[in-house]
Amino acid sequence: MKDFKNVLLEAEDGIATLTINRPKSLNALNSDTLTEIGEALDVVKNNEDAVKVLIITGSGEKAFVAGADISQMRDMNPIEASELSKLAHNSFGKIEDLKQFTIAAVNGYCLGGGLELASSCDIRVISSKAKFGQPEVTLGIIPGFGGTQRLTRLVGRGKAKEMIATGTMIDAKEAYRVGIAEEVAEPEELINKATEIAKTIMKNGLIGVGMAKYVIDRAADLPLDTAIDFETQMWSQTFATEDQTEGMTAFLEKRHANFTNK
Ligand code: CAA
Repeated sequence: MKDFKNVLLEAEDGIATLTINRPKSLNALNSDTLTEIGEALDVVKNNEDAVKVLIITGSGEKAFVAGADISQMRDMNPIEASELSKLAHNSFGKIEDLKQFTIAAVNGYCLGGGLELASSCDIRVISSKAKFGQPEVTLGIIPGFGGTQRLTRLVGRGKAKEMIATGTMIDAKEAYRVGIAEEVAEPEELINKATEIAKTIMKNGLIGVGMAKYVIDRAADLPLDTAIDFETQMWSQTFATEDQTEGMTAFLEKRHANFTNK
């Protein structure tokens, strides 16, 4: 779709794949890579007709992303650290802001900034060989690309604190058990599994898919009555779409719906 230096962005049959592509550094996130992730997400956002679902993965067999780039961070001062953190927040925030559904296909080490990137996606499909951790305290810092917040929202305060304070890794089985991952696949089946989920989503009314994602993300941390009101507002808006008429008519006519995403 567009050429970058540190990431690959490809699209086929409505599914875009963003691959973090610095395998020699286990796909570590330096500022250039974070900037390019943001730019690639802008391309995805502006191509809603061509891209219905986005898969994010890592290059090579070993790592999804082994964290922020330690060689870049070692000599940073607090102001530079703050800028790097804001750059990551800006790029990862774009994942949540996409109308398209996002799937992290975690193919190996998913550490620090890597777990923070995966946690920004809508769901995580992981290799049975993947390993997860927030090892920042082993480097004398804390998670800075959203880990204290997004991991906590996925696994709860206790598990997040345990992972962050020990800095140790957990395996795929444990990641699935604690709610980091929605699906586990054998390494050679990982992309097939993510693609299969993407194709199932793409059969549905994509206005509904995008709106459901939006309501879940925007309202999950609100008081329940406010959140329920918000759901009612968004639910009622789906009745102004052609997809609603088509979806319900198709059901009543006992045929598959032909959604036009209008
Ligand atoms: N930054 C920069 N380079 C990294 C890196 C990182 N996060 N992770 C790995 N690399 C580099 C290594 O330095 C090495 O480079 P050279 O070949 O030039 O020596 C190469 O990738 C391969 O790594 P290893 O030789 O270490 O591979 P391994 O199989 O022995 O170990 C590993 C794999 C356990 C993942 C190990 O590389 C590791 O512990 N990496 C660092 C993990 C980490 O601490 N991540 C958190 C970073 S901090 C962060 O992300 C902050 C935040 O909140 C945003």
